[in-house]
Amino acid sequence: MGFGYNKAMIEPHVPVLYAEILAHLDPQPGSLYIDATLGAGGHTAGLLEAGALVLGLDADADTLAVARERLARFDRQATFVHANFAAVAEVAPAHGFAAVDGVLFDLGLSSLDVDEAGRGFSFRREGPLDMRFDRSQGPTAADLVNTLTADALADILYEYGEEPRARAIARRIVERRPLQTTTELASVIEAVTPRKKGKGGIHPATRTFQALRVAVNDELSALEKGLGAAIGLLKPGGVLAVISFHSLEDRLVKQMFKRESTGCICPPRQPVCTCDHRAVLELVTRKPVVPGAAEVVRNPRSRSARLRVALKL
Ligand SMILES: C[S@@+](CC[C@H](N)C(=O)[O-])C[C@H]1O[C@@H](n2cnc3c(N)ncnc32)[C@H](O)[C@@H]1O
Repeated sequence: MGFGYNKAMIEPHVPVLYAEILAHLDPQPGSLYIDATLGAGGHTAGLLEAGALVLGLDADADTLAVARERLARFDRQATFVHANFAAVAEVAPAHGFAAVDGVLFDLGLSSLDVDEAGRGFSFRREGPLDMRFDRSQGPTAADLVNTLTADALADILYEYGEEPRARAIARRIVERRPLQTTTELASVIEAVTPRKKGKGGIHPATRTFQALRVAVNDELSALEKGLGAAIGLLKPGGVLAVISFHSLEDRLVKQMFKRESTGCICPPRQPVCTCDHRAVLELVTRKPVVPGAAEVVRNPRSRSARLRVALKL
């Protein structure tokens, strides 16, 4: 199968909520930032242009190479590391970023990956069922769909994709496997979940693809670990900004921000505090910031973005 792959030919990723991110992070010459999800370096370019120093991480070595090339003119200010942000507590201090002015998480995948059939993220393009951000390790989506039991698959589709037809889809996948490509999987799902007539609604494979991607990359545990570590790396007054693209991520961010901006977290009926929990964050955005209509028209990928910002106390 010839799945063409050439990142240079692809339109660069358009950074989401760019003005809002720069306004919240407020980069100054010499200040230190961690971009935990460097991607094509769109947000980081703004930080570097303001004179800040940036440590950019990405789990995807190919995307990191694109950013490195695009940002080559800032080589004195930028450090690029191929790493999962789950490891930021160890990676950042090793590169001199132990106490920073801001950390940005712009979650999910960059449009470089969505647009590239060979990565297997899109049900619209025929490609191998891969879906790993980091192709140097871990199981692929094909490994999951071709080896898990129907029950285990259904749990993934339900838990990570909120797919109401999880059991039926999982049963059909098990009947039809082995499945090797994105379009094979999409047509198995379509056969169980016929597309609604007319405009609107999502493609029947959307939730299953999201669920498999979340499972393949262990995205929610990485996020929980990465956010916790980022809070520890911020200086007092430092800014934590997180853009999420689906409700599971946003819920996790919201709950973590709530817990870490609260003092005692003992059950409300407990008369004496035994938790010793202290607030370490102050919420800046009570409700998530979403892109305006003009941004959604310009960049439809931004339509599900939700930005939450907090300050380190
Ligand atoms: C939405 S893109 C970031 C786009 C970037 N802000 C820009 O403006 O170009 C998200 C990036 O995060 C990376 N990523 C996702 N999960 C990651 C993780 N756990 N650790 C490190 N990088 C991750 C993806 O490979 C992708 O390149």
